[in-house]
Amino acid sequence: MFAKLKSLGLFGMDAYVIDVEADISSGLPSFDIVGLPDAAVKESRDRVRAAIKNCGYKFPIGKITINLAPADVKKEGSVYDLPIMIAILMASEQIKSDLDNSVFIGEVSLDGNIRKVNGIIAMAIKARQEGIENFFLPADNANEGSYVDDINIFGIKNIKDLFSHLKGENLLTPTIKREFEREDVSATLDFSDVRGQVVAKKALEVAAAGGHNILLIGPPGSGKSMLAKRFPTILPEMTFEESMDTTKIHSIAGVIDKENPMVTSRPFRAPHHTISATGLAGGGTLPRPGEISLAHNGVLFMDELPEFHRDVMEVMRQPLEDGKITISRVAGTLTYPCSVSLVAAMNPCPCGFFGHPTRSCTCSQKLVSKYLNKVSGPLLDRLDLHIEVPPVDYESLNSAIKEESSETIRARVNRARDIQNERYKGTGITCNARLTPAMLKKYCVMTDEASDLLKASFEALSMSARAYDRLLKVARTIADLEGSANIETQHIAQGIQFRSLDRKYWGE
Ligand SMILES: Nc1ncnc2c1ncn2[C@@H]1O[C@H](COP(=O)(O)OP(=O)(O)O)[C@@H](O)[C@H]1O
Ligand SMILES: [Mg+2]
Repeated sequence: MFAKLKSLGLFGMDAYVIDVEADISSGLPSFDIVGLPDAAVKESRDRVRAAIKNCGYKFPIGKITINLAPADVKKEGSVYDLPIMIAILMASEQIKSDLDNSVFIGEVSLDGNIRKVNGIIAMAIKARQEGIENFFLPADNANEGSYVDDINIFGIKNIKDLFSHLKGENLLTPTIKREFEREDVSATLDFSDVRGQVVAKKALEVAAAGGHNILLIGPPGSGKSMLAKRFPTILPEMTFEESMDTTKIHSIAGVIDKENPMVTSRPFRAPHHTISATGLAGGGTLPRPGEISLAHNGVLFMDELPEFHRDVMEVMRQPLEDGKITISRVAGTLTYPCSVSLVAAMNPCPCGFFGHPTRSCTCSQKLVSKYLNKVSGPLLDRLDLHIEVPPVDYESLNSAIKEESSETIRARVNRARDIQNERYKGTGITCNARLTPAMLKKYCVMTDEASDLLKASFEALSMSARAYDRLLKVARTIADLEGSANIETQHIAQGIQFRSLDRKYWGE
């Protein structure tokens, strides 16, 4: 007897349909699965055999062959337990249903419970595209699938529930569709918590408004981490598309919340500096998105930047530029999106007090420069704004002045973003940080005075061509925040102020 049904697999961000075929013929009893990696085959076989018996069905006697097609793509073994089991029961005529319009996925435990799998959103989208009507998946994944329209999502707790549904005895009801809804962001973090730090706050506002990456340098305890954590609260709210894309990645990585799977506020990822290049960029034997992709459409915070491994800093260069990361596999290359705002923070030296107004640094000059030089040059180059975060003084900490709220700052950021969206309509970019060198001339028009100032600074500070480009983009954002069509002198001047640290510390 022969039976065939559909399941789904993942390659990078994309799902594809897998055919699960079962054939039972007379002959010496055997049970073979082809099209799965070796170790996984054995385990899946054992689970399926036990689960069939424990659920009151008969494990058929005969020569059983399961084929998972296409055979040339590597499949994660455990998630095909469910379709394999049903295919066997169909081929042995213990289940007689028309399942042409259905897909199945799930790992089965020995007692017939169905365990959660990763990547459901991408799979549900694919299933809908293929015109499939019913998607049977683990109950713990049902909420995730319920954001995709035009497909019935059936969450299954135990294999017995599914069988009774397929037999038409106790019908399962499809999970109720969920609408995209922003979580209430009466968030716990707010910029008004941070006292003083006027320059750093302004710089973060500019970074948020233009999509720029930013580096914060200052002694321990000056508030760098505090500022970085509040950065997402001044970024524009996520659109539905952004939310879907980010959730898709979190779903593939298996890090989403079962009850509220949709990521509706911008992610903030702060990997520890001991992270490996694979952990940050993604990859591994069973490929998984890395931290930079989990931060997609949000913020990647690299605290203690010089402590990160050199190869981690190197691997980030291209993705930061492209907004996506490509991983080479035997079966081909796969791509994960990673459009992030990078916020990096560091002490100016190992003891942390180099350049401190009142405390003295105990590091030798050589040690200081060795520490600073741990930051890879090309990465430093991709950080548009370099800001000093000085220690807060007593007066600022205790002043009665009410600090600006995140909401107020975000309103200005949104206005500047609107201007950019309008200006870059149809160009393929949405913010100033992504301006190509060819676009700079067209979109960064300076007044004569501004142009003179830039020329004078270029020579006086012996700027590199790249630094010049970065400065222009930042000045463009500062002008947008003020609603100014042209870039004026004060915008250039502020841009220079926001990018002087590389000279102070690294002596560009
Ligand atoms: N500007 C500030 N306003 C209010 N509290 C601050 C400020 N700067 C630092 N602090 C306090 O100091 C603590 C340490 O700050 P933190 O952000 O961890 O410093 P850093 O990351 O620069 O070492 C914060 O949790 C906060 O309580
Ligand atoms: Mg810190």
